[in-house]
Amino acid sequence: MTRRSLLDMDPEEFRAAGHRLVDQIADFYHALPQAKLTPGESPAEVREALGHAPLPETGEPTEATVNTAWQLLQNHSLHNGHPLFAGYVTSSAAPIGALADLMAAAVNPNVGAWILGPMGTEIEAQSIRWIADFLGYPTNSGGILVSGGNMANFVGFLAARTQACKAIRTEGAEAAKLVAYASKETHTWIQKAADLFGLGTNAIRWIATDQHQRMDPAALCAQIAADRAAGNQPFFLAASAGTVSTGAVDPIRELARIARTEGIWFHIDGAYGAPAAALPDADEDLKSLHLADSLAVDPHKWFYAPLEAGCALVKNPQHLPDAFDYSPAYYHFEADAGLNYYQHGPQNSRGLRALKVWMGLRASGRQGLIQTIAEDIALARQLFDEVQKYPELEALTTSLSITTFRYNPPGTADPNTVNERLLDRIQKSGELFLSNAIIDGKFALRACIVNFRTQPRHIAEIPKIVLRLVAER
Ligand SMILES: Cc1ncc(COP(=O)(O)O)c(C=O)c1O
Repeated sequence: MTRRSLLDMDPEEFRAAGHRLVDQIADFYHALPQAKLTPGESPAEVREALGHAPLPETGEPTEATVNTAWQLLQNHSLHNGHPLFAGYVTSSAAPIGALADLMAAAVNPNVGAWILGPMGTEIEAQSIRWIADFLGYPTNSGGILVSGGNMANFVGFLAARTQACKAIRTEGAEAAKLVAYASKETHTWIQKAADLFGLGTNAIRWIATDQHQRMDPAALCAQIAADRAAGNQPFFLAASAGTVSTGAVDPIRELARIARTEGIWFHIDGAYGAPAAALPDADEDLKSLHLADSLAVDPHKWFYAPLEAGCALVKNPQHLPDAFDYSPAYYHFEADAGLNYYQHGPQNSRGLRALKVWMGLRASGRQGLIQTIAEDIALARQLFDEVQKYPELEALTTSLSITTFRYNPPGTADPNTVNERLLDRIQKSGELFLSNAIIDGKFALRACIVNFRTQPRHIAEIPKIVLRLVAER
């Protein structure tokens, strides 16, 4: 008997389907700047478009499946590669990443163990060295690629937790009264980390920020002293290199000094902002990422890799296996047979997410990437300036590539509600996509430019679109 699964494809069938799809994707990229950013459909409308078919009993021809999937995605998605997409911290994805994912899925190495993905493992290790080099972090650090910023920050958190209390891996969180420090602007990964890894969110000390949303070092010192007096064990200080709301960079040098003096692990969440450290005119705090014991940065943000790719860097490479290694009997690998990533992070089987990162870095090179990041920052500043040309708009903040502003003509009774409703209209408009930030109690419209397709003319359009949508209410 010769098996022939419906899942297999002969080369001609694959070639034909693949060529057609690549042509469609090339047209999609070309048309993106003129396309509708989102159809703005409701969940019910999207479900209707997908249909309610039960699991098919029999297979269908490749062409039908590929075509259906492409039409559904193309017509019922929010296109974050559109030049006027500036929401959250989601970048436009470099097309080379799509080719990388195709290749990675075809070869399908399991980068959990060296023997299962020899070249994949080496590509990941090289990508991590390149990222570290780009950020000014030691290239002989430990590191691992994970799914995104939450996971990359978790890795730093867990590495710190083990160093603070080795017994925690067997005894659990009861083994110590660990407490962590973060500014109140910190992304919710820290709540998830404290919750999921057994400390509980009450173990987080929320440190106040100054008028620029930067952690206040004096408030931090006072809190550490209070915790020591109460018999708690301070173990983790999380600084932000680019906060999610406004792109604020904490006073990293001062916080590093405090962490060193106090013997606390110093972690930096640079998921969004760390790549800006490579710019020649980056500020001194941003240029001080090397002071961290661990650093999170997301290739799927400011390295423009397609989702998903986060990167955790840990200065002492041994601290990763210290936190994650279990070597089961069924893994019978020679001791010196290469790097086994399953020993360095939370995952076991792992795909080659490194390829899209590595190919993206090769395509842009250090200088190309620096230039693109610098342009994003310049565009955010341009937006801040443009907004000030319109008396009905109030420019609030600009830092890195995030600018916040709001609609606030004199006499507006409840600007928060007005701007909340306005944001809803903007997000459904299909012309522009912004998100929001709360700044000193003000509901702000927020543009984050991590988008190599955005041009100065698009930025000039933003206030006009916003004011037109106000008028159309
Ligand atoms: C500063 C910061 N940290 C962490 C995260 C979480 O990253 P992810 O959504 O990739 O998990 C984000 C997301 O925007 C972020 O901006």
